Amino acid sequence: MTESREQQSFDFDFDFDERRLAGRAILVAGGTGGLGSATVSLLAQEGASLVVGYRSHQERAEALQRFLTDRYGKNSVNLVQGDITAPQVRSDYVATADALSNGLYALVCFTGDPARVKFAEACDSDLEASLRENYTAPILLARESAAAMSRQEISGAIVLVSSMQAVSVFKSSLNYAGPKAALAHAARILAKDWGGPGGIRVNVVAPGVNRAGMALASIESGKYNHFVEKKIIPRFGRPEDVARVVRLLLEPDNYVTGQVITVDGGLTL
Ligand SMILES: NC(=O)c1ccc[n+]([C@@H]2O[C@H](COP(=O)([O-])OP(=O)(O)OC[C@H]3O[C@@H](n4cnc5c(N)ncnc54)[C@H](OP(=O)(O)O)[C@@H]3O)[C@@H](O)[C@H]2O)c1
Repeated sequence: MTESREQQSFDFDFDFDERRLAGRAILVAGGTGGLGSATVSLLAQEGASLVVGYRSHQERAEALQRFLTDRYGKNSVNLVQGDITAPQVRSDYVATADALSNGLYALVCFTGDPARVKFAEACDSDLEASLRENYTAPILLARESAAAMSRQEISGAIVLVSSMQAVSVFKSSLNYAGPKAALAHAARILAKDWGGPGGIRVNVVAPGVNRAGMALASIESGKYNHFVEKKIIPRFGRPEDVARVVRLLLEPDNYVTGQVITVDGGLTL
């Protein structure tokens, strides 16, 4: 017998906890840059325990730390300095984050290099440098982070930052986009290797053209104006656009893994 409308029971009590990242230890490598600093700000607002890595711009890193400490209170951000192409630096980053609260919960890796040398003019060392910066160092940092999470039986999350140039073909982009495409593919393999019950989720964010960081000078030169003028995109990207997607992918118990999310306002369509 079918239940009458009045007898049916409906359950609308969905589980949307807020501030689920509060108190979680999150390592954000390259978190002081144009895009990374917005993600760090959003995660600080959520109450995460942050370890933020940078390579050389100490003044900017300390300014970000001061700003967030003033806004959100003591110890919002712990800074770590060093070049993650060096194994010891990767270990130091991970150990610092792993020592926080209940052990390392997540890694977000924003480090990367625009690798602007054109393929026609590139020598071995140019190609190797881009591979090291845009692929090898981030995946080795991911491996070290995943090992720390596994040791503490933490079902964590990793987000690697690639580029729209890795998911779509842009002229003359080989030396940058080749390693960024490899990074995105590696992330999907790692999601499969490290996933499953109690495992680690691995996802990729592929930003478009943002009015920040390494794309800012090109935007200001007018090089990309045609994307807006021809209404291909509604506006240039903002670091906040990337931050919101990263936060989604970090949420505990999130059901998304092995995905590449392009955040480009539709540019690659
Ligand atoms: N901006 C865009 O529109 C855009 C578009 C597509 C993709 N992306 C990607 O998004 C990521 C962030 O870009 P961004 O524009 O924010 O760049 P950015 O402003 O140059 O920031 C890069 C950050 O990474 C750090 N870093 C770079 N190499 C490092 C290394 N080997 N070891 C440790 N830290 C390192 C930098 O530290 P220091 O500054 O202290 O050296 C800085 O904190 C990159 O992977 C980039 O390829 C950016």
